[in-house]
Amino acid sequence: MIAVSVALTMLSVISAVPWSVSTLSRRQDTCPLNVLSCSPREVDRCCLPEHGLLLLVQQWDITVGPRNKFTMHGIWPDTCLGGCDDNRIFFDIERRLKEYPNKADGFMQQMETFWPSNNGDNNCFWSHEWNRHGTCVSNLDPSCKSDPVEGEDIYAFFSKALELRSKYDLYQALAAKGIFPNQGAMVNITRILNAIQAAFNVTPSLRCKNGALNEITLYFKVKNGDQYVPVQPPRSDWRGNCGETVSFPPKNE
Ligand SMILES: *[C@@H]1O[C@H](CO)[C@@H](O)[C@H](O)[C@H]1NC(C)=O
Repeated sequence: MIAVSVALTMLSVISAVPWSVSTLSRRQDTCPLNVLSCSPREVDRCCLPEHGLLLLVQQWDITVGPRNKFTMHGIWPDTCLGGCDDNRIFFDIERRLKEYPNKADGFMQQMETFWPSNNGDNNCFWSHEWNRHGTCVSNLDPSCKSDPVEGEDIYAFFSKALELRSKYDLYQALAAKGIFPNQGAMVNITRILNAIQAAFNVTPSLRCKNGALNEITLYFKVKNGDQYVPVQPPRSDWRGNCGETVSFPPKNE
């Protein structure tokens, strides 16, 4: 109890440290080039995410999404134990995205196609992802910008994630090695890991649900503000809770 309250007190002291004027006026053009997030060298949290190991988590849920695509679970800055910025917790993320003025064409449609909730409530799913993970991307904080636009941080978070999903198309990576959804057959997990490795040159980690492949996670660090560089997972429990072979069932029509 004492340890917890001491830790909490320290946390509130840290988060209560005010921004100095010089920090507030710091701009992107003073950020170091090509330094990866999480590097030992100290980098301004407005330049790179301070929770700098990013997990791109895509799911295979047979009840949602295109027949031949994994859909998004989320993109998670690791080491975050909870939401990182209580001042930007929102429960209407769907509306905020819809109302953000500078969206790419077809953005909401992409969200609905590639980031669907499996219980029909997209707003609830997206709000959770933002509150729990999006607010942890320190360098998206509006206080890091001189002229922030309302909703820009939220849009930047989701649009970057969609861009990464499209670039790291897991279905395509598996298909390239002849691994397709199949009602009966079991797939050796080594083949799945090798297929991802062959496509992206890094090892993913896996999660299963009732013996079926459920989630594939890729790990990234960040440079130059928002360039995501794939990296090896920090731990080697790639197989997660999956057995040596898994099922990879087709989606519901
Ligand atoms: C899976 O593949 C690996 C590597 O080829 C092999 O060593 C292992 O025996 C296979 N496991 C099963 C259950 O087939």
